[in-house]
Amino acid sequence: MRIFGVPLLCGALFSYFRTVKSSLVTFPSVVIPLSDLFDNQAASLDGTTDNFDGYNATYAAEYLPEGPWLYNGISYDLPSTWGQSQDNVIAGGQVVKLSNATYVHELHIVYAGDSSGSGLSGTFSLNYADNSVKYLQFTGKDWLKWPYLNGGEIQTPYYFEGHSSSKNWNSSQIFQLSLSVPSRAPLESITLPETSSTSNRLHIFALSMTPSFEPASGLLVPQVSVRSAQFSTRWEDINGQRAQAVAITLANLLPGSYATSPNASINSRYEISVTGEGVSTVTPGLVYRLVPADQARVDVFVLNDGGTGNATVTIKNEFGNVIGTSVGWPIVPLRTEWTADADVLATHETPTWWNQAKYGIFIHWGIYSVPAWGPPGSYAEWYDWSLHNPPNSNSPTWVHHLDTYGKDIVYDDFISNFTASTWNPSAWLDLFSEAGAKYFVIVTKHHDGYALFDTKNTTHRSSVYLNPYRDFVKELMDTAKSDYPDIHRGTYYSLPEWFNPYFSKYGFSSWPGGLAHNAFNASELEPYTGILNISDYIEDLQYPQMVSLALDYDTEIMWCDIGGPNKTLDFAAQFFNKAMQNGYQVTMNDRCGAVPDFDTPEYATFASLSTRHWETSEGMDPNSYGLNSATNASEYKNGTTIIQTLVDVVSKNGNYLLDVGPTAEGDIIAPMADNLLAAGKWLKYAGDCVYATDYWYQASQDPTGSFRFLTTPKTFCIIAFNKPSDGKITVDAGGVALPIQKGDSVVLLGPSTNSQSLEWDVDGSGILTIVVPQDQVDQVDYAWAFQVSYSG
Ligand SMILES: *[C@@H]1O[C@H](CO)[C@@H](O)[C@H](O)[C@H]1NC(C)=O
Ligand SMILES: *[C@@H]1O[C@H](CO)[C@@H](O)[C@H](O)[C@H]1NC(C)=O
Ligand SMILES: *[C@@H]1O[C@H](CO)[C@@H](O)[C@H](O)[C@H]1NC(C)=O
Ligand SMILES: *[C@@H]1O[C@H](CO)[C@@H](O)[C@H](O)[C@H]1NC(C)=O
Ligand SMILES: *[C@@H]1O[C@H](CO)[C@@H](O)[C@H](O)[C@H]1NC(C)=O
Ligand SMILES: *[C@@H]1O[C@H](CO)[C@@H](O)[C@H](O)[C@H]1NC(C)=O
Ligand SMILES: *[C@@H]1O[C@H](CO)[C@@H](O)[C@H](O)[C@H]1NC(C)=O
Ligand SMILES: *[C@@H]1O[C@H](CO)[C@@H](O)[C@H](O)[C@H]1NC(C)=O
Ligand SMILES: *[C@@H]1O[C@H](CO)[C@@H](O)[C@H](O)[C@H]1NC(C)=O
Ligand SMILES: *[C@@H]1O[C@H](CO)[C@@H](O)[C@H](O)[C@H]1NC(C)=O
Ligand SMILES: *[C@@H]1O[C@H](CO)[C@@H](O)[C@H](O)[C@H]1NC(C)=O
Ligand SMILES: *[C@@H]1O[C@H](CO)[C@@H](O)[C@H](O)[C@H]1NC(C)=O
Repeated sequence: MRIFGVPLLCGALFSYFRTVKSSLVTFPSVVIPLSDLFDNQAASLDGTTDNFDGYNATYAAEYLPEGPWLYNGISYDLPSTWGQSQDNVIAGGQVVKLSNATYVHELHIVYAGDSSGSGLSGTFSLNYADNSVKYLQFTGKDWLKWPYLNGGEIQTPYYFEGHSSSKNWNSSQIFQLSLSVPSRAPLESITLPETSSTSNRLHIFALSMTPSFEPASGLLVPQVSVRSAQFSTRWEDINGQRAQAVAITLANLLPGSYATSPNASINSRYEISVTGEGVSTVTPGLVYRLVPADQARVDVFVLNDGGTGNATVTIKNEFGNVIGTSVGWPIVPLRTEWTADADVLATHETPTWWNQAKYGIFIHWGIYSVPAWGPPGSYAEWYDWSLHNPPNSNSPTWVHHLDTYGKDIVYDDFISNFTASTWNPSAWLDLFSEAGAKYFVIVTKHHDGYALFDTKNTTHRSSVYLNPYRDFVKELMDTAKSDYPDIHRGTYYSLPEWFNPYFSKYGFSSWPGGLAHNAFNASELEPYTGILNISDYIEDLQYPQMVSLALDYDTEIMWCDIGGPNKTLDFAAQFFNKAMQNGYQVTMNDRCGAVPDFDTPEYATFASLSTRHWETSEGMDPNSYGLNSATNASEYKNGTTIIQTLVDVVSKNGNYLLDVGPTAEGDIIAPMADNLLAAGKWLKYAGDCVYATDYWYQASQDPTGSFRFLTTPKTFCIIAFNKPSDGKITVDAGGVALPIQKGDSVVLLGPSTNSQSLEWDVDGSGILTIVVPQDQVDQVDYAWAFQVSYSG
């Protein structure tokens, strides 16, 4: 599908001569030839030749798109046939020369990492005509990631295992990525990252670039272009009607070298609307600032009467004059029903509320909260596995168990001590709310199979049928619904169980299924208390339990773990339909075995922007989700680590899911609660620079890592991680101009309600200095959020 904008229509031309400040230009892309550097063959016709990953595994050639390939409006050159010759370059510091030095707006890459989920990152060096060099960090993904998912733009249903025609029917992926390129000078060449000797090598299949648009001599105006216009699955109730969000990205294609000219930027209210057959705008999108080399994203809400064909994007300036239109954007109707079809479900997106929430609390609570122990650096909620794997292992957990409980106590004996005797759901929710979290995700069943909700006839291994005979999930959900309507409600659910006998048939790696052998006498099997007689784990247990969390407990986030065998397509259709019919929107992570809305790095953050939605999770404990009594109070995350991690993650387009491990009685211990509350104080005064913000397209941080950048339509935030001293801060975004213009006001977000505007100045090389009185600095802890409000 070819998507492009058209510069100016007649109406637009007409108004141009009256008041116009800007015209629309097409968003271009130009292929950068790469085949001279090819040194690897990734694809095979029958699997018996070639070696993509260093272990002789290859992509299946028959599924890869051939020749010119268009993705989201960007054109690439892919091989005209796959499986017959080299088709990619393993990035190892090679230099790719542009045919002519030119100002570049964006670099586009088709790539894959060749490991299976270890994470891929690297740095491109950009070599400029003025001899300067800039570094472009990127975060990427791998061709395989079973049993999690990492949905690539190109997918094959199977791949060939090492030098044989044997097919592994897990999908393999190829990805597309676009990176902002600083454009203060013409770009001469690009040095590829050095990954050829690392455990995860970056393979590049194709490169393209979007050149900047140098204005003809004469009037200097922003070169506005519609980068994309995507009819989303997100919607909002507007006057009783479901209005569809159309996600618009605008680019100002002028090179960054024009950044100091006010005429080169949008500096006043621009209004964006979308029209087409059956499509009309109800709430236009508003953009107040767009500097050279920058991009801005905004939603336009439309009524879509099952429209077909293409839509037109219209941009008006502050006087209501049309400055340009862009046509050819395919209309996709808003769904009225979800079917259990992978292609349909794959279009589902994280809802706007989730995108804006940024911060949630994860809760790991279950019978592992009774022993509440793991050796330093381990997950305490893995006690059951660590104790048994293998029996008589002398592992630290095995030794701890023997010393603490003796060899006659089995894991299920902990059930009687899981008392929840002091549990108060309101106290938890008060804490989450004061901590500034906008959602929670409670573990409803971990790998040990003990559930915290009513598992009905699927199993009686649950808190409802065993001690302490309570439906914790229901109590928490009901309290949240009635008393904390602003906090969204999510459920963690482990698809496999370590020791469920019915899982043996599906078992894999650390989830083999089958009863545990007694840790001290391997010839004895341990009980699996509460199990009922069913015939199939997936049909009779996993699937009905997931459906129940959606239909009976109204979960808004299905946060699966591990993936693997599943009936997730059927589940997702019911989950999404139930929500839609009841007027709310829900989401599902990448560990449900199919059709993910967002990625979930664990105890890890991406080093740079990832435009696909993601959420990182980690414990307040440095290494554990479940409570670990071996952890000292001083080791828990403190206000500084919580706030700086949150801001860092949000600046790269992620959400932060921070975990607490309550005690078996149901308390969140003071060292965790106090630090969450301390961070919550900061969010009360500086939350405008976190919630409902968007990443800044040109940079998420400065090269020294001292500052993070975030945007909203009317503001730009600079968040300092180092306490300002000398009465000022100096921000150098690494050769990229900050979107700050004369007339803008700057405040430090702090606890006093009337923050005064601060003096600021930008020098000739784009370095911003903000003068800030020390008494204001001293009132703030953890991070210093300077909020720039745009004039106009
Ligand atoms: C890949 O295949 C070659 C040729 O068959 C063989 O010599 C080599 O050991 C294989 N490499 C791996 C990692 O299996
Ligand atoms: C590069 O520059 C040369 C000399 O100015 C010109 O002849 C040629 O067409 C340019 N090539 C491209 C691809 O723009
Ligand atoms: C998926 O990959 C895993 C790990 O390599 C393997 O055990 C499993 O059999 C594969 N599944 C299929 C359907 O090929
Ligand atoms: C900037 O815009 C103003 C007002 O439209 C105009 O008078 C001025 O000439 C412009 N400056 C440049 C450098 O184009
Ligand atoms: C929609 O626009 C595309 C180009 O973007 C064009 O190829 C296609 O024919 C258009 N479809 C309709 C129905 O106008
Ligand atoms: C359960 O709690 C009792 C009373 O605190 C304690 O003596 C016992 O060791 C605990 N048993 C287990 C298995 O946790
Ligand atoms: C281990 O369990 C088996 C089977 O129950 C039993 O016969 C044996 O005596 C046990 N061994 C020890 C050392 O208790
Ligand atoms: C489960 O039910 C089947 C069929 O009724 C029966 O043959 C089997 O013995 C039962 N298994 C258990 C563990 O009760
Ligand atoms: C559990 O109950 C449901 C609803 O009554 C029924 O459809 C299902 O077959 C039952 N499952 C088992 C394993 O008995
Ligand atoms: C989830 O189930 C589908 C359908 O059975 C299967 O194709 C897919 O491989 C499963 N996902 C994982 C990660 O095993
Ligand atoms: C926790 O504190 C104790 C006592 O001060 C010390 O012995 C232990 O090493 C500490 N543990 C860790 C993981 O730091
Ligand atoms: C917060 O924790 C970090 C990381 O452990 C530590 O470096 C810092 O000193 C702590 N801050 C305070 C105020 O304790």
